[in-house]
Amino acid sequence: MESHNPNQSQPNNPTNFTRPRKKPPIAFYLLSILILLLAISLSITKTSYFKTLHLRSTLTSHPITTLQKLLWFLKPSRNPSPKSVLLPSHCVLWMAPFLSGGGYSSEAWSYILALNGYYVGQKSSRLSRFRLSIEQHGDLESLEFWEGLPEELKNLAFKLHQTQCRLNETVVVCHSEPGAWNPPLFETLPCPPAGYEHFMSVIGRTMFETDRVNADHVKRCNRMDYVWVPTDFHVSTFVQSGVDPSKVVKVVQPVDVEFFDPLKYEPLNLGLLGDLVLGTRKTGLSLEREFVFLSVFKWEFRKGWDVLLKAYLTEFSGADAVALYLLTNPYHSDRDFGNKIVDYVENSGMQKPDNGWPPIYVIDTHIAHIDLPRMYKAANAFILPSRGEGWGRPIVEAMSMSLPVITTNWSGPVEYLTEENGYPLPIDRMTGVTEGPFKGHFWAEPSVEKLRALMRHVLIDYDEAKARGRRAREDMIRRFSPEIVAGVVTDQIHHILDKRRARNGV
Ligand SMILES: *[C@@H]1O[C@H](CO)[C@@H](O)[C@H](O)[C@H]1NC(C)=O
Ligand SMILES: *[C@@H]1O[C@H](CO)[C@@H](O)[C@H](O)[C@H]1NC(C)=O
Repeated sequence: MESHNPNQSQPNNPTNFTRPRKKPPIAFYLLSILILLLAISLSITKTSYFKTLHLRSTLTSHPITTLQKLLWFLKPSRNPSPKSVLLPSHCVLWMAPFLSGGGYSSEAWSYILALNGYYVGQKSSRLSRFRLSIEQHGDLESLEFWEGLPEELKNLAFKLHQTQCRLNETVVVCHSEPGAWNPPLFETLPCPPAGYEHFMSVIGRTMFETDRVNADHVKRCNRMDYVWVPTDFHVSTFVQSGVDPSKVVKVVQPVDVEFFDPLKYEPLNLGLLGDLVLGTRKTGLSLEREFVFLSVFKWEFRKGWDVLLKAYLTEFSGADAVALYLLTNPYHSDRDFGNKIVDYVENSGMQKPDNGWPPIYVIDTHIAHIDLPRMYKAANAFILPSRGEGWGRPIVEAMSMSLPVITTNWSGPVEYLTEENGYPLPIDRMTGVTEGPFKGHFWAEPSVEKLRALMRHVLIDYDEAKARGRRAREDMIRRFSPEIVAGVVTDQIHHILDKRRARNGV
């Protein structure tokens, strides 16, 4: 196992931009997942929260040796069940920020659920070639996120975490940004958790939001046996940046079309959740007729919130029966989004319309995963004029909820967005990224004028918009439902097992 020196991590870290927080020592990760899992197994509830934290800090203060780490990974069996002799010896160990929330986290969950459902479910003829194991890796875990997960997911995490595998019979999937791969540039359980050569095969699953991949990340990709990326856009940007073309494989992302099913939910009352930061709150009858534009994003320049505000505030006024809801959370910033919006408006030179500004609401409280469908259900259209997306989870979730979406016609979303199932937002030009570790890369500048026109268009021709929303759900089911994507992943894994078998002459 490669040892990880915590002192060497910070200075040249190209991922500082995405990882601002100081990382706790590695033992924290190894033990805290156990404690989180222990928490469910003992049915610890919110009232025991402080006890959990106390337990955590007690255990974290004990150092852990490399040997212990390895032993811990190997998880020697305590009660070998007689059933296990019938199970396949091959394993897929999926390492990802399962307990963290955020993009990679929900993506990883969707794969695990897809693969698990696939095996538990119908396709028994393909059932028996590998077992599934999971491990927390790649980011800090969040107790808030964990607690918001449905009970079945928690139980599944507990179960899959206990799967025992031999290194030499395991295919590892490192599902995170390449900076987290062994040796990691910040404190996290390394992936693969021992040298690359100890495993049957090692796969990096990652993506980027700009038009290229950093040289260091290219090197890390080329150390992997395969690099899985979600779209054709990434296949071409990765290969153009120097990743070995024979290693790059497109594996799309699933979206949980059963969970994000509009027929199953009543809308959340967004008016109660949102803080009005601009314009005036509509009341009574007019509230019911209000057309709700929803956007979901982390508060960063890349997401194009400035483009959204500019388009919305110049196109609409207080006289229009519209409202814009922004579900956002901090990203290298404080939570004072109201002031940021007011500052932006004051400095933008936009003229306040005679009828006043159209209302903007901010929702910055944590919305538990189980409440997300109800939030989409409360909207009439989903808008995200992003400058670059890896995949765009909120976009496909909205599409699965049959919402018409308007989002930038560049990068990840090009994989699934068409003029039949949504509104691709044209870009004005490509622009250089001016700050952060991706400085010098390029991404897209979406058109404010076209966004204005499209927002007005879906408001006026809502029947067309709804038809595109229905088509969006059909496309999500057809191309990205968990069963479809589980089939894609399974085929890839079987391909690796077959190649290995052929090589070993078995
Ligand atoms: C992995 O190692 C074990 C123990 O050394 C051995 O029995 C097994 O055959 C190996 N499996 C493969 C696929 O090489
Ligand atoms: C979106 O981008 C694709 C590929 O770059 C292009 O073929 C298509 O015409 C674009 N659609 C719109 C509406 O701009």
